[in-house]
Amino acid sequence: MPAFSDTLVDRLASASRVVVLTGAGISAESGIPTFRDPDGLWEKFDPQELANVEAFLDNPELVQGWYRHRRQLVEEAEPNAAHRALADLETHIDALTVVTQNVDALHTRAGSSDVVELHGNITHNYCMDCERPAEASTVDAAIAEGVPARCPECDGLIRPDVVWFGEQLPPAAIERAGTAAERADVLLSVGTSAVVYPAARLPLVAQEHGAYVAEINPDTTGITEAVDESIRETAGAVLPSLRDAVAAPHDA
Ligand code: OAD
Repeated sequence: MPAFSDTLVDRLASASRVVVLTGAGISAESGIPTFRDPDGLWEKFDPQELANVEAFLDNPELVQGWYRHRRQLVEEAEPNAAHRALADLETHIDALTVVTQNVDALHTRAGSSDVVELHGNITHNYCMDCERPAEASTVDAAIAEGVPARCPECDGLIRPDVVWFGEQLPPAAIERAGTAAERADVLLSVGTSAVVYPAARLPLVAQEHGAYVAEINPDTTGITEAVDESIRETAGAVLPSLRDAVAAPHDA
């Protein structure tokens, strides 16, 4: 018995526009730690010490080193069956937008073509002062020398291209995500605890505009009470069979 309903398969099979909101759980099966699970990053590290601009200015080497460690983990990881199933689903749906809170770029590496990165991309760096992109190799070389990584053009500090606590989301990304949610026929919320705003509001926006909303998560989330369907399994277990069900010929 599949864990999902016939309604979900029918709604996806007939949908023109689908939004998939993803969070750290979809990359857990690629070996990338989540934030709030018992072994998650925020259990081991204090976001106040690492993921905000004050912490960065206080101790740039510490923060640059932590993000380099996470970047290397991401670069060594591979997209998993869930990322690949979402990329495949594009074949069957006119417009499928992945809106991700993840900074790991695994959706793009899996082949998804329309990805909105709400919280940035950890594989990119830029200068805090002149905002020019910076090479990861510049960061790595400075860390190896034990000095803060600085911009070769203006000597400003180099930071990862991620959204820190207290910072605004990239306005273009939040606008694209909001518009896609308003227009969606179906929204899938996958592997997110759905407690960080504004991302967590997107499923509710989609539902208010008539979308069928399903979540895929082994645990309850901040939006469980609101969604039309909760699928209590891992993303890697559900998404490949959901893709196969949507791809299978349908009775009218
Ligand atoms: P969380 O760590 O808050 O939640 C991860 C969710 O994934 C949990 O609800 C788990 O139950 C679920 N999960 C774990 N393994 C799974 C699997 N194999 N398949 C499906 N679900 C699974 O991560 P996010 O919701 O992504 O923001 O967190 C949102 C934001 O909070 C992050 O983007 C980050 C953090 O602070 C910033 O850094 C700006």
